[in-house]
Amino acid sequence: MARYELVKRSVALITLTNPPVNALSSAVRHGIAKTMERALSDPKVTAVVICGENGRFCGGADIREFAGPLRGPPLVPLLDLIEAGEKPVVAAIEGVALGGGLELALVCHYRIAHFKARLGLPEVTLGILPAAGGTQRLPRLIGIPAALELITTGRHVSAQEALKLGIVDQVTEQNACEVAVEFALRAIAKPLSSRRLSSLTTPCPPNLDALLEAVTMQIQKKARGVMAPLACVQAVRAAATMPYSQGIKRESELMATLFHSGQARALQYCFFAERTAGKWTLPSGAQWNDTKPREIRSAAVIGLGTMGRGIAVSLARVGIPVIAVESDKKLLETGRQMVIGMLERDAKRRGVSASLNLLKFTLSLEDLKDVDLVIEAVFEDMALKKSVFRELSKVCRPATLLCTNTSGLDVDALAGVTDRPQLVIGMHFFSPAHVMKLLEVVCGPRSSSETVATAMSLGKRMGKVSVAVGNCPGFVGNRMLKPYSDQASFLLEEGATPEQIDKALEDFGFAMGVFRMSDLAGLDVGWRVRKESGLTGPDVDPKNPPRWRQGRKYCPIPDMVCEQGRFGQKTGRGWYVYDKPGGTNAKPDPLIQNLLETYRSRYGIKPRNITDQEIIERCLFALANEGFRILEDGIAARPEDIDVIYLFGYGFPRHRGGPMFYASMVGLQRVLERLEHYHQAHPDVPHLEPSPLLKKLVACGSPPVQKWREHIKTMHSHL
Ligand code: 3HC
Ligand code: NAI
Repeated sequence: MARYELVKRSVALITLTNPPVNALSSAVRHGIAKTMERALSDPKVTAVVICGENGRFCGGADIREFAGPLRGPPLVPLLDLIEAGEKPVVAAIEGVALGGGLELALVCHYRIAHFKARLGLPEVTLGILPAAGGTQRLPRLIGIPAALELITTGRHVSAQEALKLGIVDQVTEQNACEVAVEFALRAIAKPLSSRRLSSLTTPCPPNLDALLEAVTMQIQKKARGVMAPLACVQAVRAAATMPYSQGIKRESELMATLFHSGQARALQYCFFAERTAGKWTLPSGAQWNDTKPREIRSAAVIGLGTMGRGIAVSLARVGIPVIAVESDKKLLETGRQMVIGMLERDAKRRGVSASLNLLKFTLSLEDLKDVDLVIEAVFEDMALKKSVFRELSKVCRPATLLCTNTSGLDVDALAGVTDRPQLVIGMHFFSPAHVMKLLEVVCGPRSSSETVATAMSLGKRMGKVSVAVGNCPGFVGNRMLKPYSDQASFLLEEGATPEQIDKALEDFGFAMGVFRMSDLAGLDVGWRVRKESGLTGPDVDPKNPPRWRQGRKYCPIPDMVCEQGRFGQKTGRGWYVYDKPGGTNAKPDPLIQNLLETYRSRYGIKPRNITDQEIIERCLFALANEGFRILEDGIAARPEDIDVIYLFGYGFPRHRGGPMFYASMVGLQRVLERLEHYHQAHPDVPHLEPSPLLKKLVACGSPPVQKWREHIKTMHSHL
């Protein structure tokens, strides 16, 4: 796991060999210990270079080992040994030096980075802190403000930025290993004491307390309830105020509080879930690693509304030429200006030039005859979408993939009107499409494996986290959203206010509660869908009881809010009131309070005191319950897929792991009991009835989330 060679007669070259990222597993640590010992004791060796195989220095500790007991040599004493050695050690950083990988580089006396390398201490994103001396050495090297920023955010920096900050001594465009060997030869005679970071004094700004206070406040505002960044601040404070020997103890104590925490488990689960989500399998057996995607050299987007604009920008910024289509001249011109503006702002932010030459705008579908792939983003109207797909089927060459951005309509029904159902697939982006990372790739029963592979790979190229899901109303994300938002509405009936429900959800960790989020998205969108599905509007038989629809309990309050022209932020009024249309500062509105009171008295509902616990349980257990049904139905292949969808598409707090992981952390037995309790109290709400899969998992002893798949494999997959 660590190869030893003697090069240039006197330089020991130690290569970490643990692909793919040379993580510091127990075997690698053992290998480093042995090879370092050999280098330090061999009189022929005058200097040491440490590098990683396959152009990657080191991706840090092996996260998979965190769940078990510590085996092999612990990292801290091993790193101390390297730093204390009397022979110069040079880190040759190619690819990445992250987490423990950077901590390893920091104990080397010199650091040479390849110009494409990325460096950072991302431990905070895994719910822990850099506990192999990183919180103590980095501030000594680059000062408190810069170290604080890197450690509390986990941001990766480029080699160039690392050079500016003083993290590395040299950046090279050549082979970093060869440059490091030459560098090591030149370093032999130089004294090492000033290169041992643990022996340096931390350069301390005069306003230390104010700086730490400001960063703490910023973290508390941005990452409500998240522990690791606050612990990072405390560790950096120790670097500023204590000698190294005490600071390192403080680092270790703080790590002990985080290491076994639920938040660390959740965040590490998210890391692996994100990587698992890209690995799709179809019922035919075709899967991610045996199906070649088609190369997409050109694309088209139909409809330049909210979604189409963002999709066009996402395609163009990764170098794909885009033809954008609108239905009339004026809308085309508006769309054109919006797309160009968005692309220019995006390019400016990234410090690159905007690829405006990749964009073409047209009113005619005929212009799409040669493109490789089309993404349709017209209104959510089946008849309109079918007519667009029929037309596309006529004009596009037979090999063109036809994709829809529908947020919930039947992808197979669209496939059915084309001459190439195997090339039709859903690519469900989230708003704003050039910002949101999630892409649900909706596989119809006739979508070919090559089509799935192409949509997944295009998503990846566009920088999205892509998840393959099956075709059913609302797919995964929006299907689960319904029971969640229904519970919020029922809680309003029973006595809660929008602000109380939002606060409970925001305290849980959501960036926005359900009502603030709906105000942002626009309340008219859901209203239109409810009207179209016969839940409200003039087509509903007036003899129908208002709180009963399609065989289940219905809450008409959201419709009543829309009937008053309150569509959310864009109209300046929704569940909250805003200072102006388009305003973002939400204030509770007494008119909504009145509406709720009048409603309750009309239906004889005696408002009751509702606790935050009930809000969280009713909303989130109903959400997870639908997730279990989705797994049973084979619409999502794994709980990880559902969690990734909620993390990246719906703002579910990452430190809670996603709705399915959260349910497993609460305990499936408890989730089942609470759902049974609420369903008993509300037998007319089917979403509260515990799903058979949840019951089955509890009966099997509530296995951990990674093992649920074993209990659902006999069910039918729609993927
Ligand atoms: N431990 C275990 N497995 C790891 C790993 C790690 N540190 N880093 C990556 N992997 C695994 C991934 O799970 C994936 O496995 P799979 O093929 O079975 O799905 C495989 O390596 C490849 O990873 P990616 O798909 O992410 O590859 P990329 O090329 O896209 O990205 C990377 C490479 C930037 C290194 C990215 O993997 C990454 O960010 N890794 C984590 C880095 C990190 O957070 N390090 C800190 C660890 S904690 C620590 O060091 C504690 C210390 O302070 C003591
Ligand atoms: P939108 O109303 O903002 O834009 C639709 C655009 O399509 C309009 O500009 C319209 O002029 C254009 N259009 C209509 N018919 C056309 C035709 N025949 N040819 C060319 N252009 C035509 O709608 P939005 O919000 O962008 O939604 C588009 C699709 O994306 C819908 O299916 C929606 O369900 C889905 N979606 C919407 C999300 C959102 O948050 N708005 C999120 C995810 C999906």
